[in-house]
Amino acid sequence: MNRNEEQARVVREAERFAVAELGRDRTGHDGYHVRRVAKMAERLAAEEGADAFVCAVAAWLHDVADEKLNESKDSGMRKVADWLSGQPIADGERAHILEIIATMSYNGGANPPMRTPEGRVVQDADRLDAVGAIAIARTFVYAGWKGDMMHDPDLPPRERMTPEEYRRGRSTAINHFHEKLLKLKDLMNTKTARRIAEERHAYMERYLERFMQEWEGLD
Ligand code: ADP
Ligand code: NI
Repeated sequence: MNRNEEQARVVREAERFAVAELGRDRTGHDGYHVRRVAKMAERLAAEEGADAFVCAVAAWLHDVADEKLNESKDSGMRKVADWLSGQPIADGERAHILEIIATMSYNGGANPPMRTPEGRVVQDADRLDAVGAIAIARTFVYAGWKGDMMHDPDLPPRERMTPEEYRRGRSTAINHFHEKLLKLKDLMNTKTARRIAEERHAYMERYLERFMQEWEGLD
């Protein structure tokens, strides 16, 4: 097998592993979420000149380590590291993939900027799935899973919160737009993602306007 074939095989294996791990997760991180992120990461990598292999593997694996789906972030990272160590990947690439996965989460906006072009690409690809029509659907599914209401006018969006409050505090689906989704457009790392986010963002704003209009019993 030449290097390209070997890399293509690792990407396919990463896909199988991620889909088996995430399956029918209901927190917005199902197999189809990672599939969309991997496709978008490939597209952004090509446009931004980032390493397509590192981006693809990191994208497929990025939610396997999610703290919501594991006992702890450490045990999730260990699961990914163990899997990677069984694959024919150079040490530097393996460390790079792990670094991306460990640092890319939104985390209530508390994490520092990504260090490498590949990290910026994968983070943008993940964030783009939280902006637009699919993002709207994911947010309502997540709120239902968490036991939050879709909207509660007596519970205003939180302006500042610790990562712990962001994750566990009581909120609503509509608040989540203000607490996270509407902020993402300005946080994109790459030009391509920023352009895609602009249009998806405008669509979410139109959606929220209509939601409030109907909430008040208007047309
Ligand atoms: P990350 O892994 O980047 O920190 P999250 O796991 O917090 O992102 O969120 C993934 C997606 O799940 C969000 O983009 C959003 O659509 C949905 N989501 C996360 N937290 C909430 C929440 N508190 N209320 C509603 N939807 C949420
Ligand atoms: Ni994700």
